[in-house]
Amino acid sequence: MVFLHNQTKHPLIPQSDREAERKLAQKTQNFRRDFFLLLKEQIEAIASQSAKESNNQVYARVRQQLNQNPDIQEGHRQRTLLQDELWQQVISSINGDRLRLTKAFEFYHWQKNQGLLELNPEMEYPAHQLKTEIHRMPGGYCQNCDESDFFTGAMYDHGVFLYGQGWFGGLNDELGKTVINHVLWQHYPQLKPQTILDLGCSVGHSTLPYKEEYPDAEVWGIDLGAALLRYASARAKSLEREVYFSQQNAEQTSFQNNYFDLIVSHILLHEIPSGSRKKVFQESYRLLKPGGVMIHIDSQSFLSPSNLITRYFRDTEVWVNSEPYLGSSNLADLQRYVKEAGFDRKEFKVDLVPGYYAVQKGNDKAGWMALSVKKR
Ligand SMILES: C[S@@+](CC[C@H](N)C(=O)[O-])C[C@H]1O[C@@H](n2cnc3c(N)ncnc32)[C@H](O)[C@@H]1O
Repeated sequence: MVFLHNQTKHPLIPQSDREAERKLAQKTQNFRRDFFLLLKEQIEAIASQSAKESNNQVYARVRQQLNQNPDIQEGHRQRTLLQDELWQQVISSINGDRLRLTKAFEFYHWQKNQGLLELNPEMEYPAHQLKTEIHRMPGGYCQNCDESDFFTGAMYDHGVFLYGQGWFGGLNDELGKTVINHVLWQHYPQLKPQTILDLGCSVGHSTLPYKEEYPDAEVWGIDLGAALLRYASARAKSLEREVYFSQQNAEQTSFQNNYFDLIVSHILLHEIPSGSRKKVFQESYRLLKPGGVMIHIDSQSFLSPSNLITRYFRDTEVWVNSEPYLGSSNLADLQRYVKEAGFDRKEFKVDLVPGYYAVQKGNDKAGWMALSVKKR
């Protein structure tokens, strides 16, 4: 089976080209398996050459020797090509079903009485997101061609599914479900949030689970990209979830002080530079009510890689997969920023948790890192 879970066929998912997608996913899976085996073999051989060095010294040698290894360099080239092939496939699948998708989008976009969409035509985008097309996604997150554009959202929704090969669940909502099940229930069972904010929500994959868990709460998702949010809002309506989406910079929002009981982000931290992470924590502190909780979840191998192989893979993602801010992620800095934002360090928790859907398939290996803190 290529996909761990099948994609839920909501009305905004392209219905075309399933076989081509399956073939590409299989090719990618085979490549990833072989490349990780090669990395493991090479890195273990380099690391075993001396026992007296510090971790950083061994790592420096790993980088230097792998830079000169033609098989590894060819592997990096293949990673980039496969990522580009993924986006080409996603675009081809969307184009193959474009007429139906456009009609479905317009139907939900104009449907009233469910949620709200606030776009800001004067939006000032932070330079760090304009500088690069993260994950090599054509056009980048902020691309917005006109006021009916939903294409970036459609690309992201389907692209994440193909990239994750079904590991994020049929609705790509693994991270929201993981926070609810493995962090909120674990540490904050008393919290009954009435107001919830998801920062960097993209198309709302992880935002919707909060509405399911807390149906009476006012749930907001904010992001920079207008076309992402247009799609997010239509998608939420098609799935009958009443969620508010607003085009805002998570570093400085227009919400009033102490408005939210719960503020979350999912795989946002590794995609923004250190200075922005700091501002996001400061803004979250301003927006949280006393007693409110902030939770950020990201991949452990991005924030704090536990071995030389994941560290090397993370650091090469920077240029292989256009992830410019990955290399600067560092748990110790994040802890410092949380404290500087005003939170009490004693309230700060770091959890390594397994993915909600992976557990369902018998894989309880902890791969996500959740940082949570309550405002006093
Ligand atoms: C990897 S995606 C996260 C997607 C989403 N949270 C999920 O779980 O599917 C990162 C998102 O963060 C958004 N983003 C980056 N910087 C931001 C900022 N300063 N303010 C708001 N959104 C931001 C990007 O536009 C992008 O949609």
